[in-house]
Amino acid sequence: MSEGTPEAVARRRVWKTPPGVPLCVEADLPDPGARSLVLQIGEAFFHGFVVRKDGQVAGYVDRCPHAGHPLALELDRYLTPDGQLILCGWHGAVFEPLSGLCVGGPCAGGRLTPWPVQVTGGVIRTA
Ligand code: FES
Repeated sequence: MSEGTPEAVARRRVWKTPPGVPLCVEADLPDPGARSLVLQIGEAFFHGFVVRKDGQVAGYVDRCPHAGHPLALELDRYLTPDGQLILCGWHGAVFEPLSGLCVGGPCAGGRLTPWPVQVTGGVIRTA
């Protein structure tokens, strides 16, 4: 298997991160707002995003439970235009920002995979 095959690329993906990695300053994230984050861990990469809503922050693995695509079609565009829900741009699934519960679309009742994050000293970090 060469390095560029889909299998090799998939192998280089990881789904968890070590704790305590600083991600971004909380105040730099609008409320409501969201940001894509990619962490390199050794030779592998983690793809996730953080959401800020009603003064709280949540993180998720950037993978839709419907068909496994990353959710945003444009960089950092994870929310519906009114900022109330997370939107998967592929087939329109919508999720509650702070629970990850799918409340509409092809995977209704499913959930985004949580990515544990916490805010300490005004900085969003992996937990
Ligand atoms: S991949 Fe997200 S709704 Fe289909």
